[in-house]
This record gives sequence, C-alpha cells and structure tokens, in this order.
Amino acid sequence: MNKKMVIANLKMNKTIRETKEYVTELFALTTNTCVAIGVCPPATAINSAKRKLSGSKIMLGAQNIHEKDKGAYTGEISAEMAKEAGAEFSLIGHSERRKYYNDTNNIVNSKVLNALKNGLTSVLCIGETLAERGQEKTDIVLKTQVSEALNGVYGNELKNIIIAYEPVWAIGTKKIPSFKEIEGAAKSIREILAQLYGKEISAGMTILYGGSVDESNSKDIAKIKGIDGFLVGGASLDIKRFVAIINSF
Ligand code: PGA
Repeated sequence: MNKKMVIANLKMNKTIRETKEYVTELFALTTNTCVAIGVCPPATAINSAKRKLSGSKIMLGAQNIHEKDKGAYTGEISAEMAKEAGAEFSLIGHSERRKYYNDTNNIVNSKVLNALKNGLTSVLCIGETLAERGQEKTDIVLKTQVSEALNGVYGNELKNIIIAYEPVWAIGTKKIPSFKEIEGAAKSIREILAQLYGKEISAGMTILYGGSVDESNSKDIAKIKGIDGFLVGGASLDIKRFVAIINSF
C-alpha cells in the first residue's frame, strides 16, 4: 500500500508571521500521524517556515517554479532558489497557473525536468475542465497532460513525481465528482503511467485528489481505491480543518 499524503496549498494566503504560526501549530497537532504532510506557503514564507519545522517531518513545497535556471525573468523563482529556501517539492501545472499564467503542457514539462535536475519532487497537477468532462474528453485530457508533462522523464525518476488529479471545475467550488468518477480517473491515470513506464512503476506512484476536499468529505474520499491522499486549498487555511482532513487516513 502506498504511503498516504496530504498537502496544503495555501495559495496567496498567509504572511510570514501567519505561516510560522500555522506550521508551528500543525507540527504540534500531527506528531502521531503516519500520513506524510506537505505545506506550500507563499514563496516569501518558505524559509521562515523551514526554520520553525526543524525536527519535524512536515515537508515544505513551492507553489510554482520557473522552467529556466536563471535569467531575466522578473518576478520568477527558480527550482534552485525554492530548494535553497527549504522546499522539498513544488506544485507544477496547478490549474490556476495554467489558466492565469499560461502554463501549457510544454512549459509544465520544462518545469518538471527542471525540478528533477535540481532535486525537487514535482507534484504534477492535472485535470479536466467542465466543458471537457461534458464532452467526455476527461480520459484523453488526462492522457495528454500526463504524457506531455513527463516527456523526457525516465522511469527511475518517477519516484520524484507525484500526480495530483484536480478536476478544474471542482477547485474552490464545493463541487466534487462522484466517488466512482474519482476512482475512474485514478484508474485511467495509472493506466497511462503503466503504458509509459510499466505496471510496477505505475502501481507505486502516489496519486492525490484535489478539488473542494474538506473535513466533511475527506473520510469518504480517503476510501476511494487508487487515491493516496489529498491536495487541499481552501480548507487547509484553517488548521483544525486541515488536521481533521489529515486524520481521515
Ligand atoms: P480547493 O483547492 O481545495 O480550495 O478546492 C484545491 C487546489 O487548488 O489545489
């Protein structure tokens, strides 16, 4: 059985002070859990959070990295910089990045390769829009997103890739797919990975579900076959709600 994992995506929320308080409380409330916990604060707060977490297994992640190593890219942060600040992983291809900042599958692929080069795990976010679902294109969208994002990634590097299945229409909307649909999507993703890298690697991959996960639905989603954890946005901002979600496993 794959290890369970729950990640908080704080998005553009929490100052350095608020993040330090948040991770300190999270550390105190989760000492007994076997679940792997990740927190993606704003980039400004990664380093301060890291210092608060010394002695803890809680991992910090960036919400995004740039695809290039360095250069004239005003406002951007490289994988090396995120790592130096204390990140062990980065979200890559989150639907908000795809929608507002034009992260195409090609760019997502460059970011994944850059993360690997710099020793950062990628949490690769994929998922269909409502229109794509309506046209029954979910499987083909997932296939394209996975295969294009992993172009040039070798099988032995997949231990540094986590997939987050996040239907775009479920993010921040309080709407979630049926449990059967989530199970079906996880199965499709594993089939795509098996075609690309073989069954063994595919079976060992961590697949998270994200999109309107909260403390009222997390226990049920946690039981879905093929889902190893959650990527949580809104409900992770409140520490008690986030801890309740972690405790679903
Ligand atoms: P949500 O966001 O939990 O607020 O729906 C999830 C995400 O954006 O990763």
